[in-house]
Amino acid sequence: MMIKFDMEKCVECLKCVSVCPFTVLGEKDGRPQLREGKACLKCMHCAAACPQNAICWDDKPAVLDRTLPALSQGFAEDLDNHILTRRSYRHFKQTPPDRELVRHALEMAAWAPSAKNQHPAKWMVIDSKEVIEKMMGYILDYVKETGTSPEIASEYEEGNNVVMGTAPILILCYGRNNAINSPADTAIAMTTAELVLQARGIGTCWAGYLTRMCNAIPQIRELLPPLPDNNSFYGAFMAGYPQQEEYFHIPERLKREDIKWV
Ligand SMILES: Cc1cc2nc3c(=O)[nH]c(=O)nc-3n(C[C@H](O)[C@H](O)[C@H](O)COP(=O)(O)O)c2cc1C
Repeated sequence: MMIKFDMEKCVECLKCVSVCPFTVLGEKDGRPQLREGKACLKCMHCAAACPQNAICWDDKPAVLDRTLPALSQGFAEDLDNHILTRRSYRHFKQTPPDRELVRHALEMAAWAPSAKNQHPAKWMVIDSKEVIEKMMGYILDYVKETGTSPEIASEYEEGNNVVMGTAPILILCYGRNNAINSPADTAIAMTTAELVLQARGIGTCWAGYLTRMCNAIPQIRELLPPLPDNNSFYGAFMAGYPQQEEYFHIPERLKREDIKWV
């Protein structure tokens, strides 16, 4: 599997060579050339930068067959607004969001950056009420038996579920432990997916307790489809249509940017 040039289309502008992150592409007699012994990241930047669309991946297209409209004039401000108004939601309507909407958000995360373009993030979406209830039962048993995070049980007794709120769906992100940087790559993929979900009206909240419990509790591992060897859960969301929270203001952030310009 490798990139291929259609030399009939190529106009020898060498833009492909100039964007390759690892000098996998070189130039010979004014033409682009794949260099021996260099590891291609499969980032497809060469194809994306080719004005002639002369680069494919084996015999498949290396770029999307899509022309995107220009971003709207107010986009930069809209993006700031979206970041400022993204909030954690913990109380949800019980109707699960449409699977297609969720699938779209997770698919968008494939365009997030990742170390050496490895994209280790994979997903498990749980929208079965029965499975979610069983998971919570195992978590409560576990925290009571082990004394781990006692606030989970004490909050639950007060009617507050800090692990999964009232979420009708749980989105788990897992990946292989031997990727270059699974913790960062999965967090970036999740951050991307969260922004897409919230842009479409789906409330989310990162679920750190749930992530830890999914890794720690064997009964939860047995309940869910098995993870491949040497994989772990790296993150999770509670998600659903918001029911209770309505935020009228942007919360103040006591820790603002701390930048040392050098
Ligand atoms: C890695 C991570 C783990 C989190 N785990 C939980 C959690 O287990 N339960 C919870 O209620 N909120 C959790 N949160 C949400 C934070 O409490 C929340 O992001 C923070 O209070 C700021 O609120 P905001 O997201 O509305 O800006 C987590 C957030 C992150 C980034």
